[in-house]
Amino acid sequence: MITSSAPPIDTPVPLRIGTDGEIDGATRVYRKYLGDLGGVYYDAAAYDQHVGEQGRDLLVYYVHEHSYQSGPGALVVGTSTLLPGVVGEEYALTRGHLHERADRAELYHCLRGHGVMLLDTIDGQSTAIELRAGDAVNVPGHWVHRSVNIGDEPFTTLFSYNADAGQDYELIARAGGMKTLILRDGSGWRQVPNPKHTGYERGGA
Ligand SMILES: [Fe+2]
Repeated sequence: MITSSAPPIDTPVPLRIGTDGEIDGATRVYRKYLGDLGGVYYDAAAYDQHVGEQGRDLLVYYVHEHSYQSGPGALVVGTSTLLPGVVGEEYALTRGHLHERADRAELYHCLRGHGVMLLDTIDGQSTAIELRAGDAVNVPGHWVHRSVNIGDEPFTTLFSYNADAGQDYELIARAGGMKTLILRDGSGWRQVPNPKHTGYERGGA
């Protein structure tokens, strides 16, 4: 009798990605609604007004992902689709995070729309990378990242990262938001320093 402690070998799975970012074969789908994003936007009064006008159940973004293992060698692949909108003057955004294992990198490839990948490091660097369909950004480890939709159609990215990366979603909230805000500027966009940002501190205050 042969015994082995080696993990099973997973079977390759073909994935079909639809025009709305839906993945045929996704193992997880989740949606974020306006009511889930309290404290995420800079202008709290504008957020409250937006909730009053649009309701807490307004869909802001949704994620389809495929994962076959949780170990360090596996990838999570998926799509994130962020619908267009503004809260006050701030463009629609995702909560954003730093990977729990901070050295884990992530690829984002824009499939549709016009957006920005907003990126900060714990030690104070900040950058914003504009993405249109066909553009990609290879986000190194140690960068906090968030998507922002600066267009007037859904902004969909294909992403992939190590399955053991994890996400720290509270880091940004503890810091008063990311270092930079992406605001509407006429029909375009501009980036301005976030006056509420107090710097990042891992592990909580
Ligand atoms: Fe990530």
